[in-house]
Amino acid sequence: MHIGIIGAGNLGTGLAKRLLAKGHDVVLSYSRDLPKLDRTARALGARAGTVAVAVSSAEVIVLAMPYTASADALKEVGESLHDKIIWDCTNPLKPDLSGLLIGTNTSAGEENAALVPNANVVKAIPPFAELLHSVTMDVGGGPPGVFLCGDDATSCRIVANLVKDIGAEPIIVGKLVFSRYVEPANMLLVALAYANGLGPRVALSLRRGSSAAVSTEALAV
Ligand SMILES: NC(=O)c1ccc[n+]([C@@H]2O[C@H](COP(=O)([O-])OP(=O)(O)OC[C@H]3O[C@@H](n4cnc5c(N)ncnc54)[C@H](OP(=O)(O)O)[C@@H]3O)[C@@H](O)[C@H]2O)c1
Repeated sequence: MHIGIIGAGNLGTGLAKRLLAKGHDVVLSYSRDLPKLDRTARALGARAGTVAVAVSSAEVIVLAMPYTASADALKEVGESLHDKIIWDCTNPLKPDLSGLLIGTNTSAGEENAALVPNANVVKAIPPFAELLHSVTMDVGGGPPGVFLCGDDATSCRIVANLVKDIGAEPIIVGKLVFSRYVEPANMLLVALAYANGLGPRVALSLRRGSSAAVSTEALAV
């Protein structure tokens, strides 16, 4: 697929590396240091461009910048993203990682969706970048789980396949409003990894009994 990534930091480059390895075409964008962006993209085998270039031919656009930069990143392209799929990876973390800037009565997923009213936003927070950049993604003997939600079922399935391509296990939970719970769940993981000292080789997963294995599409909608 043609994938435009907005943000070329720890997460954006980790996703780019794994998506390129699966044969996807990747354009990296949105850095305050354009020569560095160019070097980073070239080293990975991706292309570098402006946000407008990254989104123009993309079938899936990945939000991999800080949540607080969303409005700036999307300001030139927000209204133009008709029917495009947006894979929103942002978690609205406080800068010191001590908690979330917003949550439970709204979410970064919903606030970002309001910036791109014509697009199909899918919230799916990937595993830690340290895992994406390491040889194996497996944690405790299996792939990390990624909870995923969005209002358009086709877009959710497409992002779920990309989540598999990066080596993680997608768990589709329902409509975009579930971002209100997906984001705090990932905040818990951040706290365990960094405040509680477990480190980044930790991940979420869902364990369910056989009677709960009724659907791989959605646990609740
Ligand atoms: N890192 C992880 O393990 C991880 C995992 C899951 C989700 N996430 C989410 O992914 C997003 C990106 O995280 P990250 O760790 O990749 O961050 P990061 O390493 O700091 O990268 C942020 C990217 O956004 C760009 N950017 C452009 N304008 C910016 C601005 N005004 N302020 C800050 N950055 C700006 C940065 O460019 P320059 O710095 O080159 O200018 C860089 O390419 C966050 O929303 C985070 O919650 C991260």
